[in-house]
Amino acid sequence: MRSAKDFFRPLAVGAPDPLREIPARPSRAIHFFDPSNPKMAAKVPDMVGTVDVLLGNLEDAVKAENKDAARDGLVRIAKETDTLGARRGPTQLWTRVNALDSPWGLDDLTTLVTEIGDVLDVIMVPKVEGAEDIHYVDRLLAQLEAKAGLDQPLMVHAILETARGMVNVEEICAASPRMQGISLGPADMAADRRMKTTRVGGGHPGYLVRQDPADGSEESIAAERTTYQQDLWHYTISRMVDACVSNGIYPFYGPFGDIADTVACEDQFRNAYLLGCVGTWSLHPKQIAIANKVFSPSVEDVTHARRVVAAMGDGTGAVMLDGKMEDDASCKQCLVMVQLADQLAAVDPELKKQYDAIEPVSEKAGA
Ligand code: GLV
Ligand code: MG
Repeated sequence: MRSAKDFFRPLAVGAPDPLREIPARPSRAIHFFDPSNPKMAAKVPDMVGTVDVLLGNLEDAVKAENKDAARDGLVRIAKETDTLGARRGPTQLWTRVNALDSPWGLDDLTTLVTEIGDVLDVIMVPKVEGAEDIHYVDRLLAQLEAKAGLDQPLMVHAILETARGMVNVEEICAASPRMQGISLGPADMAADRRMKTTRVGGGHPGYLVRQDPADGSEESIAAERTTYQQDLWHYTISRMVDACVSNGIYPFYGPFGDIADTVACEDQFRNAYLLGCVGTWSLHPKQIAIANKVFSPSVEDVTHARRVVAAMGDGTGAVMLDGKMEDDASCKQCLVMVQLADQLAAVDPELKKQYDAIEPVSEKAGA
């Protein structure tokens, strides 16, 4: 067992001190690009400032023969785009490295930390199965940070995409002060669990409940009955949110593969937002706009939340607003909304304009 006192000591001589708090940076859309694809790579500099996070993807979706080119491409992009990364501009730079059991994972970590460790914000590690995977990465990163002379520790983000990872999600979140967050990887998770869906995220029309038959007769059983599609990912996302929040880190939805179905994509993102996620992945530029909209509180929600917070004064007691009871707990719900809106307005001028246009609260609570 490791003493609590040792938890915040560097794991290598000369490595920076571990973080005590994970910075609350807006990360509504994590936009994936393939650094080995020259067309995608060329667009990166112009995307700075249009999206909260740009992520150089080295893992799945990059062909085996392009793994070295993707790694080298990311190093070059990070060096050449001098506004990229939270230390230099408005858009964070993340990467998704290859899995720890792949032939490329070690080279990814070694090269990226030594070459661009001062620019990268977060390293996403796929297929994390237990705390032991995070411990391995934790020590290795400390050694590499010491070697590279970095003064800030890199953060680690795990992808939840195996049944064993799900069973161990709480210990994964708690495994290191570097842990920044977790994303759901619904495609790998479905495959690993042997779920019978071939979709990348989203619901499935076969996963439903059906209205009872009118009277149990054969005719009523055969008759048309209303069905309600259920959310395949409800348990997974909810448990991931609890594991993250209870460890002071951030939960994210992952990919939505049906790029053309922008409506279902928005639904999936909103389900994750309502359950507590702070952002999602974007696989196509049009998903950035959807994510930014969904993961930013609506003007209506912010208007209501500010009214409740103002009416509640010091946040204790109870008031009636529009016939509804508000108290300490609902005031806290509203503070979540108000604080998120303030944080996003600080980086998104369009959103700031919308929130600033909300009428200042003058009204007092009624009985
Ligand atoms: C993402 O990596 C997924 O497997 O869904
Ligand atoms: Mg995956």
